[in-house]
Amino acid sequence: MTLYRLAYVSKPAPTLAPSDVAAIAAAARRRNPALDVTGLLIHEFSRFIQLLEGPIDALETLMTAIIADPRHHDIRIFLQQSAETRSLSRWILWTDFDRMALTAEEMEVHEEIVRGALASLAELDAERCQAAPPAAI
Ligand SMILES: Cc1cc2nc3c(=O)[nH]c(=O)nc-3n(C[C@H](O)[C@H](O)[C@H](O)COP(=O)(O)O)c2cc1C
Repeated sequence: MTLYRLAYVSKPAPTLAPSDVAAIAAAARRRNPALDVTGLLIHEFSRFIQLLEGPIDALETLMTAIIADPRHHDIRIFLQQSAETRSLSRWILWTDFDRMALTAEEMEVHEEIVRGALASLAELDAERCQAAPPAAI
């Protein structure tokens, strides 16, 4: 089986409630193991950052549902590659309301994914600044 890795950052819908995050987590806990998908979903500071790893077909199936999900928008995929091994052996949810205990190794993956997301958002800001330079006085 070829393993794939995908990560994106997105903005939660303005109306997103803690119960929505709980419903997303319930769907993921039900579906991801059946699809052999592991990873990390971070919901903090008004953004989602998600790492998904598993067979390509499973990631395609999941991403089709996730991209169409009205509970978030402005989805920006910043990592997409084949992988030798999984970064994480389970699916982790990390939110403003609910923080799982992470091992040191898992914490490193968490930090790396957050760094990747922030670098991608900084790139987006730079593109926007170039597209719309300040008006000359
Ligand atoms: C930010 C975000 C992350 C999500 N992550 C997952 C996930 O990892 N696994 C999953 O099954 N659904 C996830 N969902 C929910 C899916 O979009 C979808 O609602 C769910 O899989 C049920 O799909 P279905 O209605 O086609 O059965 C996520 C939704 C959002 C907004």
